[in-house]
Amino acid sequence: MYAASTTLSRALAVNAGRVLRHLRAAPGLALVAIALIWLGWPWSAFPAFILAVALSTGELLWVRATANPNRLLCLVLGLIGCRRVRSRWAEVCESAGLARGSGNALHLPQLMKVTATWPYVSARVRPLIGQTATDFVAASEAIRMAMNASRLRIEPAGPRELDLAFTVGDPLAAVSPADISQTSDLDALTIGVREDGAPWRIAVGPHTLVAGCSGAGKGSVFWSTAFALAPHVPTGTVRLHGIDLKGGMEVLVGEGLFTSVATNAKDAVALLEQLVQLMQQRTVRYAGRVRSHTPTADDPLEVVMIDELAALTAYANDRDLQRRADTAINLLCSQGRAPGFMVLACLQDPRKEVVPSRGLFTQTIGLRLKDRSETTMVLGDGATESGALCHQIPRALPGVAYVSSEELSHPMRVRAFYADDEAIRATAQQYSAPERLEVPTFREPADRRRLRTVEASE
Ligand SMILES: Nc1ncnc2c1ncn2[C@@H]1O[C@H](COP(=O)(O)OP(=O)(O)OP(=O)(O)O)[C@@H](O)[C@H]1O
Ligand SMILES: [Mg+2]
Repeated sequence: MYAASTTLSRALAVNAGRVLRHLRAAPGLALVAIALIWLGWPWSAFPAFILAVALSTGELLWVRATANPNRLLCLVLGLIGCRRVRSRWAEVCESAGLARGSGNALHLPQLMKVTATWPYVSARVRPLIGQTATDFVAASEAIRMAMNASRLRIEPAGPRELDLAFTVGDPLAAVSPADISQTSDLDALTIGVREDGAPWRIAVGPHTLVAGCSGAGKGSVFWSTAFALAPHVPTGTVRLHGIDLKGGMEVLVGEGLFTSVATNAKDAVALLEQLVQLMQQRTVRYAGRVRSHTPTADDPLEVVMIDELAALTAYANDRDLQRRADTAINLLCSQGRAPGFMVLACLQDPRKEVVPSRGLFTQTIGLRLKDRSETTMVLGDGATESGALCHQIPRALPGVAYVSSEELSHPMRVRAFYADDEAIRATAQQYSAPERLEVPTFREPADRRRLRTVEASE
């Protein structure tokens, strides 16, 4: 006992900081435990110490769980989910064709461990010899439904095992209102919440494509991004340029935030070409001196926000306008990142013939889409296999999307903040742009002007 208490004293001395932090987080019961240690020291220190740690850990868990009542609920639902997976495993494997033999000679994929981290219940599984991840993917729908999960993601975990991640709850069912106060970091814009509870951030460097059917919530991604940039607008560090060919229905609600706005195809082309010119002038100025842009009032971050990209690149009647819009967008997307020009474009139809420049948007957001092929077009090959199910997002959840990024091992389900018209108007008034840039007059190329004159005179 003496040896144990000596070892314990040493361990305590080495980890004093950690132990103190732990005890400070759960002070009530920890004080009782400290008193016990004090009274019993050194002979009964060991059991008293165990009691102290157990009591304070229990208190800590309780405090954490009840600080947010949802947390307690999540804990309980997670435990229920774990129990369900364990108790139904044999039956599910049998009915999904993953078991072999029968009766006493029944062989099942081994369920190694089941853990819950809200909103997921994760099961580590060792398949039977001869089974592969593909067998589990083929049976995934049957397994998901039997386990009462809204989603199931299957990933390899080492050479012989698989991780089955069941989504057992939906933290994205609730609408999160857009809130300027949480969104002012220019390195990564916070524009919503992720399924795992973390903030949904998008990078500012890459150009962003937001694809979704009508009513999927493109507007909420558009405005959440504008809100995240808004605190930098009055200082002139960020300039927003809005293009909305639905007559300005979307963009004009928050007009004050924008340095320039184009609501018809000719203005849009003139504005895009002017921005290309500014970008090229800045690139020439930076050549050999600056390799990456830092936004300042003199050299602001120029963000082009386009509400319906296809209206510009595919649905405009005039082929020449389409071509010019496409060229300008291609130039901004391919050369804009380094000198501080960024494009965010929303669209309904992600087909290449509608958006030839699709490949230049390196950050894509897939809201509700029509079918699996559209999901692949937006999020890339293999996205649906790794769990991006844009085509299965219910209509009742606008603003919900899937995103993939280099930091994430699998596509993440997210929901954009929602800003109603009143919030947009208030934000536009509070963070209005210090100057307006007049959209230049649209100029036709000389040969077309000449052709029109000839036609008119005939
Ligand atoms: N993030 C969100 N949270 C909650 N509700 C949302 C969210 N986004 C959108 N909505 C609701 O869904 C409706 C449709 O959204 P929105 O107008 O953004 O769709 P859209 O994709 O832009 O459609 P369209 O292509 O027709 O313009 C909104 O009026 C709003 O009520
Ligand atoms: Mg819209």
